[in-house]
Amino acid sequence: MEETIHITVEDQHGEVRQLEIPDGINLSLMEVLKASEYPILATCGGMALCATCHVQVLAGQEKLEPRTEAELDMLDTLPDADDHSRLSCQIRLTASLDGLKIRVSGNN
Ligand code: FES
Repeated sequence: MEETIHITVEDQHGEVRQLEIPDGINLSLMEVLKASEYPILATCGGMALCATCHVQVLAGQEKLEPRTEAELDMLDTLPDADDHSRLSCQIRLTASLDGLKIRVSGNN
């Protein structure tokens, strides 16, 4: 049976919404956020080269793969990045991410 991935997203105004994403969709978190009309520019198209897809993980960080060197280098260029920062284009949506909570900073 197909599972549903629940991702809680807080936007730049503090509004919280839960996204329900079918497992097996094979998209990145960036692609889903863009499709859900969050202010994610993603100018590099998901290549870890622009950092405009920056999000902060509020809960469930342990569900995610560690950040790669390329992701860390890109996050280093952001003044507001911290230990909870991720590039959402580098996060593949899988059922194991169910329950993740993130914040879209909106000043990308
Ligand atoms: S879309 Fe450019 S770094 Fe993620």
